[in-house]
Amino acid sequence: MAAEQNSTDPDSHLYLTADTFFTRHADTGLTYDDVTLATLYSDVLPRDVALDTVLADGLQLHLPIISADMDTVTEHRMAIAMALSGGLGLIHYNMSGKQQLKEVSRVKNHVHGLIQEPITVTPDLSVGDVLELIENRRYTFSTFPVVDESGQLTGLLSGSVVKPRYADRQVAEAAIPRDSVHTIQQSKLESNPIEVADQFFTDHPGINKLLVVDDQDHLHGLFTLSDVERITAEATAQFKPARDSEFQLLCGAAISATRTSAGELDREAITDHVGALVDRGVDTVAISTAHGHTQGVGDTVKLIRDAFAKLPIIAGNVTSSAGVEFLAESGANSIKIGQGPGSICTTRIVAGVGIPQLTALYAASRGAAAKGVTLIADGGITKSGDIVKALTLSHAVMCGGLLAGCQESPGDIVEISGKRYKQYRGMGSLAAMKSGSAARYGHSTREAPAKIAAEGVEALKEVSGSADQVLQQLAGGIQSGMGYLGARDLANLRERARYIRISAASQLEANPHDVIEVKASS
Ligand code: XMP
Repeated sequence: MAAEQNSTDPDSHLYLTADTFFTRHADTGLTYDDVTLATLYSDVLPRDVALDTVLADGLQLHLPIISADMDTVTEHRMAIAMALSGGLGLIHYNMSGKQQLKEVSRVKNHVHGLIQEPITVTPDLSVGDVLELIENRRYTFSTFPVVDESGQLTGLLSGSVVKPRYADRQVAEAAIPRDSVHTIQQSKLESNPIEVADQFFTDHPGINKLLVVDDQDHLHGLFTLSDVERITAEATAQFKPARDSEFQLLCGAAISATRTSAGELDREAITDHVGALVDRGVDTVAISTAHGHTQGVGDTVKLIRDAFAKLPIIAGNVTSSAGVEFLAESGANSIKIGQGPGSICTTRIVAGVGIPQLTALYAASRGAAAKGVTLIADGGITKSGDIVKALTLSHAVMCGGLLAGCQESPGDIVEISGKRYKQYRGMGSLAAMKSGSAARYGHSTREAPAKIAAEGVEALKEVSGSADQVLQQLAGGIQSGMGYLGARDLANLRERARYIRISAASQLEANPHDVIEVKASS
């Protein structure tokens, strides 16, 4: 022990680096609550630390949190909320391929400054027809450019007249006439369209829509003041939304290693679907399985890598250095770590397999360093302190349970004895596997349910407000942890982390104790 003491750090025999700590505890699987991090001299304030993380070329997040590709966690609403807070949502695949493409499009088209294909109406409709359209298509806006059959702009139907009292009026009569509509020539947008639109709105107080037209007065886009303001405000915001180079929100999609009826990898179906996702602008695909260190997952990663050279690929799950190296060699950029830590998982009970999460992350971090790939700590995160510990050995975390109670997760709220809950189920639960995720656990959807061993449970999570509020809390906790360690950024956190094992008594000490709690901290 004395040999490890380093002359400049008198605590180095107690608070150990990852290599020393995990080697010393090589015979015990450890998870988040088994360890704590030591504080270190700090000259950084929590609010000044950077939470940016680059998971692959072209996949940079400003908050290292990803919402899980689970059917009770991530569809377009959650993915939009995640990206707006700087993180990423992975759309699950318990839906048809067509539906998943739609979900991705909804995220990518959310707000990107210039709406390139605005929804238009024709002059011959009545305001009542437009109201019906809004109701049927569930539009959340009510202002529409008016365009005739040849695509020429004839006016702008303002939301202020799209009201039942004007239902009988013709759009042609109710709309602002073409001459009074503010437009800009497409050729004048130059390289920074948002800057041009921002200047226009500054120069024209009270105007909140600007239409883009070509020489023939054909409509090519729409700027709204609120979108432009949101984007310009991001430049100074602490947590910037995660966007691609075209200002569109980042979005990922999970895909399954689909097999033909003969049991072969369905190469055509996989490449066709990934190709369609790429056409919709997806920023990454995740090959999400319970066991990623397998021929099937390796072949799927290779197939996608060969067909889409630059597409960031996430793959998993594994819990060993060998597993990480295998997926990295197959072509994955970011590897998901976790087998059985999830709050709804029963893999360790059912299969007797899985590694406590912190030990798994350490093992994986050695493979990641050897191969130059990044890691995502997937599952078992129940509080911000767990995220800080996870990020000492990984580049981002994936959360299911922490986000499942948010208003943006799919599913309805149920009320039980006056408390409000949302459904949260494991993708390896029987119900979820019947909806499509059986392949993730090595089963076929055609197998008789009696033969399938479920590896997850169906559960409820208490409703927890918006994703934005939950993420703000988590980000604050991560920043605080980094401040205690004097870490300016996540690379610095990984370098500086020092660990010590804790006892059951110290776990009690870590929680509020010997008081009557009148208000929970979150
Ligand atoms: P948390 O703890 O955030 O975990 O709720 C979410 C992660 O758990 C994994 N997952 C499962 N693991 N059986 C399992 O063993 C399941 O049914 C199951 N469903 C999800 C997944 O990695 C997810 O991100």
